[in-house]
Amino acid sequence: MTIIIRGDIVFTPRPDRFTVLEDGCVAVGDDGRVTQVAGSPSDIRLRGTRASGDRIVPTDDAAPRSTVDSGEPEPRVIDRRGCLVIPSFVDLHVHAPQYPMAGVGLDEQLLRWLENTTFPVESHFADPQVAGTWYRRFLHRIWRVGTLRFSAFATLHEESTLMLMGLCQESGLRPVVGKVNMDRNAPEELLESTRDSLESTRRIIGKSRAATPDIGYVVTPRFVPSTTPELMEGLGEIVREFGLPVQSHLDENRSEVEWVRRLHPDVPTYAQVYDRFGLMPEGRTIMAHCIWMTQTERRLLRERGVWAAHCPQSNLNLASGLMPVRRDLDAGIKVCVASDVAAGHDPSMPRQIVSAIETSKAKTFETGHENDRPLALSEAFYMATKRPGEFFGAIGRGRVGTFEPGCDFDALVIREEDGNPLDLPPEGKLARFIYDGDDRDILERWIAGRTVPEPFA
Ligand code: GUN
Ligand code: FE
Repeated sequence: MTIIIRGDIVFTPRPDRFTVLEDGCVAVGDDGRVTQVAGSPSDIRLRGTRASGDRIVPTDDAAPRSTVDSGEPEPRVIDRRGCLVIPSFVDLHVHAPQYPMAGVGLDEQLLRWLENTTFPVESHFADPQVAGTWYRRFLHRIWRVGTLRFSAFATLHEESTLMLMGLCQESGLRPVVGKVNMDRNAPEELLESTRDSLESTRRIIGKSRAATPDIGYVVTPRFVPSTTPELMEGLGEIVREFGLPVQSHLDENRSEVEWVRRLHPDVPTYAQVYDRFGLMPEGRTIMAHCIWMTQTERRLLRERGVWAAHCPQSNLNLASGLMPVRRDLDAGIKVCVASDVAAGHDPSMPRQIVSAIETSKAKTFETGHENDRPLALSEAFYMATKRPGEFFGAIGRGRVGTFEPGCDFDALVIREEDGNPLDLPPEGKLARFIYDGDDRDILERWIAGRTVPEPFA
């Protein structure tokens, strides 16, 4: 049975402008996928027939489903007039165990921040009690801000990684999650042997398939400096064997890049280290930051179809640099916007969208508007919805982030501000929400055609 959601529909099939249907409709089939987007309920075609105006009546959500003479069930219209209906946000780079330190330790740059703030926090996730409490809080928050799909780093701990996956499954959210692999250059309590790291990864992959079918596994070497060549080799085998995606960090900080060069003097660039070990599988790799890429690396990322997760708030917090987003986009790289909590301090994707736009404007102060044209709002929105949503399609977990036919209906219903003297069109109301709204404006969250209730409140 089809449902029809009626409201002000806004999404971005293309980055350069919003597609807007003021008082429009999205029709969603039994399988939770969008079948059609239309200007009004009467434009929705049901099995080849055009539904007449009186056949589709807005009903109370709880009203019993009626059946028309033909025996075909009447579509239920969910009347959300006075609300925006937009694709929910997709965050391709977030560290779930770092949530308790959001906002802390940000006076330092990457390598010291890892040593002094991040590693001490992550080592507490050896304790299932800490993991249980904080993973619940994290998921509650991410649900509130309307990020319904994401790709998360856990920690190296097997039990708490499985716990995070279990809590994700229970929450109704649909992320991918990876146990972090790290067998060098970390404090004692956050190190594992190469062998333990690989065996533990295989166990989690095996167990989670049965226990948490809606949560994908993503192979997660922390970054080149914390993984030995043997570990990367073994992870590359796992990637090939199971056809899994990969997530990691790339070219975030100049000292980090220099360190990688010293660790792998025989490999010309940082990105080529991952590639050499099979850790850039085509069309299913996420690399976070990518600030200091060479042209060779740009070409490689483009060839491998890598999603480059731009984390603008994190890059400012750790003074990592200003990513040349425009040049990467022009080079054909799939750039998306991500939070990188907790180097990014705010899990909200609207805050990250704003930060990406601001950063792209700051870039022009150095290089000129002609060289680094700033991001438009529609582009940054696309980079937080459709672009990262394609990753989930690529790994067989449902194309999301847009309302084009065939996509899973993952959406947010957002209360519109009333009485604005500008008499804004829907895309103007969306701009107000992104710049000045917050989670209290989100009235409903939908994943694959069903509403997702508040988890772990
Ligand atoms: N590089 C290696 N680990 C991390 C991390 O946890 N956060 C960020 N931002 N960069 C990293
Ligand atoms: Fe990160």
